[in-house]
Amino acid sequence: LASVEFDLTKVEAGQQVTIKWRGKPLFIRNRTGKEIAEAIKDDKADLRDPQTDEERHKPGKAQWLILVGTCTHLGCVPTFGGGDYGGWFCPCHGSHYDTSGRIRKGPAPKNLAVPDYAFLTDTKVKVG
Ligand code: FES
Repeated sequence: LASVEFDLTKVEAGQQVTIKWRGKPLFIRNRTGKEIAEAIKDDKADLRDPQTDEERHKPGKAQWLILVGTCTHLGCVPTFGGGDYGGWFCPCHGSHYDTSGRIRKGPAPKNLAVPDYAFLTDTKVKVG
């Protein structure tokens, strides 16, 4: 099954749901205003894999961050709410991602990947 549809009403603000997509975990995160503000504030930081927060979500949908949930180092699954940047932390070798899923510290070379997806309605996305 190449693509999957997901009902965003299942994810409350400040929460994340993990689903399976093409054999990988997919994080669907409903970001708080604080998480978004922190991500935008760091757009000008010294980023290893430079991307603005705007480039990591759909226009006008800053609260929805959809990411492939595998660490870009060796593929472990990072957990949210750990690390030094308020986002995800990978316990395998200590990679820290920010609230935009951008790599900030540790061995991972790249940001958490954003898959191809589209909004079908305001509350429904299709990934892949
Ligand atoms: Fe995540 Fe190594 S697999 S830091």
